[in-house]
Amino acid sequence: MHLAFDLIGELERALKAAAGGDPATFEPGVRTADPRHGDFQANGVLAAAKRSGKPPRPMAEAIASALTDDVRGGFEVSVSGPGFINFAARPPLLIAWLQAHRSREDLASGASAAHAGETWVVDYSSPNTAKQMHVGHLRSAVIGEAIARLLGFTGARVVRDNHIGDWGTQYGKLIWACKRHLDEAALARDAIEEFERLYKVGNSAAESDAAVMEAARAELVKLQAGDPENLALWRRINEASLAAFQRIYGRLGIRFDETLGESFYNDKVGRVYAELSAAGISTQSEGAQVVFHPEHPRFKTQPMIVRKSDGAANYATTDLATILYRFEHFGANGILYVVDKRQGDHFEQLFLTARTWFVKLGRPLPKLEHVDFGTVLGEDGKPLKTRTGDHVKLGDLLDEAAQRAFALVTGKSPEFSEEERRTIAEIVGVGSVQYADLSQNRSSDYVFSWDKMISLEGNTAAYLLYALARIRSIFRRHGLECGDPAAESGADAFQTPGEIALARKLVKFSDALRLSMETLRPHFLCLYLYELAGDFSTFYNADKVIVPEPAARARRLLLCARTLLFLETGLDLLGLRTLERM
Ligand code: ARG
Repeated sequence: MHLAFDLIGELERALKAAAGGDPATFEPGVRTADPRHGDFQANGVLAAAKRSGKPPRPMAEAIASALTDDVRGGFEVSVSGPGFINFAARPPLLIAWLQAHRSREDLASGASAAHAGETWVVDYSSPNTAKQMHVGHLRSAVIGEAIARLLGFTGARVVRDNHIGDWGTQYGKLIWACKRHLDEAALARDAIEEFERLYKVGNSAAESDAAVMEAARAELVKLQAGDPENLALWRRINEASLAAFQRIYGRLGIRFDETLGESFYNDKVGRVYAELSAAGISTQSEGAQVVFHPEHPRFKTQPMIVRKSDGAANYATTDLATILYRFEHFGANGILYVVDKRQGDHFEQLFLTARTWFVKLGRPLPKLEHVDFGTVLGEDGKPLKTRTGDHVKLGDLLDEAAQRAFALVTGKSPEFSEEERRTIAEIVGVGSVQYADLSQNRSSDYVFSWDKMISLEGNTAAYLLYALARIRSIFRRHGLECGDPAAESGADAFQTPGEIALARKLVKFSDALRLSMETLRPHFLCLYLYELAGDFSTFYNADKVIVPEPAARARRLLLCARTLLFLETGLDLLGLRTLERM
């Protein structure tokens, strides 16, 4: 049996061959199975039998018995229920597979077939400038980073693009206020806080005084016309905002390839207007340029406005220009938008318009997907706010996480120096916030709970980081190099229940990656890592690793090394940093 990283893909190929006929028409549908039924299960015979009008069970039996001896040597094969084909990996296969996939590079090359040769743009974080990043910005940043890492690992060239909101009518009021009320000392202390204050000053002055409103509008027009003073102020606002965002990105391990905000598309929307109207896709309605979608229940009457009646572009126009740019400039095969699910309508309408537009002009349309997510809630079930009802600033949230983690680390390892405990606490604290977010199905809302997330118990970052550090310490204590082939050679087939359960879990790593990637849902990988750490713990409590008998010692070291490798790789793909000791 060929020991591909992707055992499921291997079994699917074997099943197609065994089924004979046209391989394109039979989808074996192999998935990780409930452990009681083995390791993997194919349920595709049911659909195939239905299509051909034959009873499924005999068909499954025929396919199973046509599998090669090679496959049967690696797996115990059985048929159950109406026609499921079950595969239980035999211990020698488990050992051989684990020996074959020993480094991160091995895993990456095994996983890279999924997106090889493709370019994907991931549009994430994308906050608006001159405003604080708050807890509402957490999910896009954390989920987007994990998905970008997973995509890269599965073979894609990834362009991480921070589509910041750095353009719009708010700049008129802000510039008006900057010119009159800017406090340089406050700006130096906390630039964004000062801009937020100035915006409020400008906004309330404009609300109560028509002359101010007019003056603010004039500032905006000057900015749009490229007035040097206003442009310089606007740049200063954006630079200060980006510097503040950068501090948060640094803590979250995020590095963007591009930060092409809305303003970048100012000179690119003209082409959108022209193409849409020349192709007859848009029409004029009350002075605005709009696109109707007659086939859509809502968008047939609520058009997408691409150019407002005052001639200005809007969020939607910019997004259309962005798709074209990503297609032409990056050669994007796909674009992922990691954005709050409340923008679902916007993206649905955007994608429909882009499709009509690209198809009409004979351009291949990149795959477009809104990777949506729900809201972070407080314990009261309402969107998380501070006690005074304000947005929770993301920087403050991460500070609090590190502080709470410091208490946890101090309780566990008081003998570490304070400096070391602080370093560990930053990694545990920030990792806990990331992990608590990633371990939820992203489409749901979740309740933010410090006690649950910064804990050594349950499906948490601290639990996984601790498990990982513990395995690293096994190697350290015995002066062994993790993954050293010499230490693993001579391993014989797994024997104890703890060894076997752990090995069977390990061979499912590739499936956890595949599932997370196919659904763009990192929580599947989280759950896998959590279960893996649990199986490791059961094994480790039952079986001593460093035993005199060389074959037992080698196979147990192999299990330790691979568990460590998969935890390291998995946590890194989720965007977490790991620890030597904790
Ligand atoms: N700046 C937007 C907001 O804060 C998010 C932008 C998302 N990306 C996009 N291409 N529309 O809501």
